[in-house]
Amino acid sequence: MGLFTKKRSLVPVEYLPQNVGIIMDGNGRWAKNRGLPRTAGHVAGAKVFRKIAKYCDRRGIKVLTVYAFSTENWKRPQAEIDAIMNLLRDYLKESLSDFKHENICTRFIGDRTMLAPDIQELMAEAEESTADKTGMILNIAINYGGRAEIVHALRELVADGVSPEEITEQSVEAHLYTAGQPEVDLILRPSGEYRLSNYLIWQCAYAEYVFMDVLWPDFTEKHLEKAFTEYARRNRRFGGV
Ligand code: FPP
Repeated sequence: MGLFTKKRSLVPVEYLPQNVGIIMDGNGRWAKNRGLPRTAGHVAGAKVFRKIAKYCDRRGIKVLTVYAFSTENWKRPQAEIDAIMNLLRDYLKESLSDFKHENICTRFIGDRTMLAPDIQELMAEAEESTADKTGMILNIAINYGGRAEIVHALRELVADGVSPEEITEQSVEAHLYTAGQPEVDLILRPSGEYRLSNYLIWQCAYAEYVFMDVLWPDFTEKHLEKAFTEYARRNRRFGGV
């Protein structure tokens, strides 16, 4: 029987993950399957991102972190990098007015110093204009890598002059881009790949993983609900019994 043919009740909010990470994978293959350029896949993927982010907020998710551009993505052809940056630019401009109607607090994680100055300004504006929102925190990972994030945190600690004894899990956590946010509960990766790809590696120490055989541009709220149902079934022990 098809997974969505049965009418299902939604997982109650108290059993939902508080913090969800999504690796928005499969845009290129989606475009290739249609004989389109890879950039068309990113355009479609950006639309799905908008829809899923708003849905997560309405559903009561506390933190959503999406992987938009990794530190490794600079290896892609320049035209594809430019297309992703343009999509980000469009999203940021559009969202500055759209954000007014949403209760989402937008933040960016990653090293933004390598991005175009106008994009950096738009990012700062988006963060400032949504800083007092009380709904979901939306972290958009751009030029982000989990290892680079840990190195960045350690460098800050060293620059602060901390002693070896003061380097603790808590002090490292306090210097991550996601400082103060709860740990990741659920990592969701569509596209049939079974990897973490340097994503939130510190924050995912006890996360549950759901991998789905759907390409990101085809991802819908129903797929998300299926992942929430799977998550709610898991028995999380955090190393205990
Ligand atoms: C991975 O698919 C996707 C990316 C590297 C880019 C993700 C970007 C977006 C969804 C659009 C821009 C985002 C915002 C926030 C506006 P892939 O290209 O690796 O796909 P493939 O594995 O099928 O080749």
